[in-house]
Amino acid sequence: MKLKTFATPSLAAVVADVLAVGCFEGEAVNEGKGYAASANLLTESGIARQAAVDGFKGAIGETMVHFTDGKTAAPRIIMFGLGPRDKASIETFRKALIAVFKKARAMKAQHVAFAAIDPASIKADAYAVGEAIASYAGMIDYEINHSKTEKGGYKPETHFKKLHLVVDAGSVKEMGRGLKDGFAIARSVNLARDLSNEPGSDCTPRRMAKLAEKIGKESGGTIEVKVLGRKALTKLGAGALLAVAKGSDQEPFLIDMLYTPKGGKPEAELTIVGKSVTFDSGGLDLKPADGMRRMYRDMSGGAVTMSAIKVIAELGLNIQVRAVMAATENMTGGSAYKPGDVLHTLNGMTVEVDNTDAEGRLTLADAIEYAKRQGATRIVDLATLTGAVRMMVGDIASCAFGNNDEFTRAVVDAGDSQGERMLNVPMWDEYNTFNNTEMADLKNSGGAPGSTTAAWFLRRFAGDTPWVHLDIASVAFRDREFGPDPKGATGYGVRTLVELARRLASK
Ligand code: BES
Ligand code: MN
Ligand code: ZN
Repeated sequence: MKLKTFATPSLAAVVADVLAVGCFEGEAVNEGKGYAASANLLTESGIARQAAVDGFKGAIGETMVHFTDGKTAAPRIIMFGLGPRDKASIETFRKALIAVFKKARAMKAQHVAFAAIDPASIKADAYAVGEAIASYAGMIDYEINHSKTEKGGYKPETHFKKLHLVVDAGSVKEMGRGLKDGFAIARSVNLARDLSNEPGSDCTPRRMAKLAEKIGKESGGTIEVKVLGRKALTKLGAGALLAVAKGSDQEPFLIDMLYTPKGGKPEAELTIVGKSVTFDSGGLDLKPADGMRRMYRDMSGGAVTMSAIKVIAELGLNIQVRAVMAATENMTGGSAYKPGDVLHTLNGMTVEVDNTDAEGRLTLADAIEYAKRQGATRIVDLATLTGAVRMMVGDIASCAFGNNDEFTRAVVDAGDSQGERMLNVPMWDEYNTFNNTEMADLKNSGGAPGSTTAAWFLRRFAGDTPWVHLDIASVAFRDREFGPDPKGATGYGVRTLVELARRLASK
């Protein structure tokens, strides 16, 4: 998608397939305050009169298409609701954007012009408005078509070819900067979606490792990538990750990506760990067919982690970020690890395998210990860890668990600000004991409440390092469209991580 910001005194001159113009609730038929050009257009083009006739109110989610009959160079105008002016914020604006870009997509518009709104009217700055517009356009312009022969292979950009933002002269520069960054964020969300939508036989641990290396090469020297294969992992002693990998013909890889901003190591540091099980059959505790069907997406946490570090580097944020992915399959081959096995994890603790389908926490245990050895000062992990989170939050939020209230709050707040909701679930001490067993230091399945005992398992490895675990099994993929997300993989978490990195960098 090509992006451009330009200032023009009259929207009549805007050349595009469609021109999007927002209206506050109840203001559609009056002068339409805000940016002068859009206000004039509403009256000049007759759209204000049509709105009155059609009963268009300007509520969020409302759209109305107007054929301009040659009065503007864009043959169609999509008028969309911004909700009540006094309640307007960047959050309500983002919600409004979902409706307008879905409408433009449904109309098969390729060249979308957007009459930007006055940032002050949503209590935001020009950069934030530009970022919201481009990130939502980019996220909504996503389609899974990897294997459709008529598309001639995968083409990530299918609908919008150009996005032109029409702004008042004073905001051109800042809004243009927001537009560019917002589109980079959308590209990264879409990369995460692509990776988790990829079939299990394509997106293997090796594929993830190769992609990480490619991202490193293309980072202009800002991301350093290290990949540890079976031999190196054996030497290191990553017994939990290696045990999960035993039943698979695919080699496991621990992928370590380190972003250092140009100009040297900054004070702030963040480590992201992403569950990267590229296919979870359940192992010998085999999943039933229904439960296994989507388990090629069990590396969604890793996909988000890799995409997030990529875009954090592109934005040049002033923070050091490490991404760690312990990539493996969980299969049933003749050498598969068995229920009852005792594993020696990288940190030295022993784990009795209660259930081979509780493999995620084993891979993460070694990944977290590895991250700590590299000097992690705060860790966020993202994992499609337990089906049980859905009982708490359905498919509209993830569950957050942490060992440090201040850091957990910071993560949840960053998520909230991006529309990526998290339920902060308490970790009462009693649940810790549920993972105890006579045979070893821990067992890998502590029973109900399954999401909390899984979190406690990880916490034993995080120790005192500030750590937040996001169980994203509820939101990493859905079987319906929701908000800016398509059906299938969502890329949930990328925007939270970018925002968190931004906030930590500016402290
Ligand atoms: N990858 C699954 C969790 C999952 C389920 C993710 C549904 C997305 C959608 C995980 O490895 C798993 O199998 N968890 C088990 C744990 C149990 C065996 C203790 C579960 O949730 O049932
Ligand atoms: Mn499993
Ligand atoms: Zn799993």
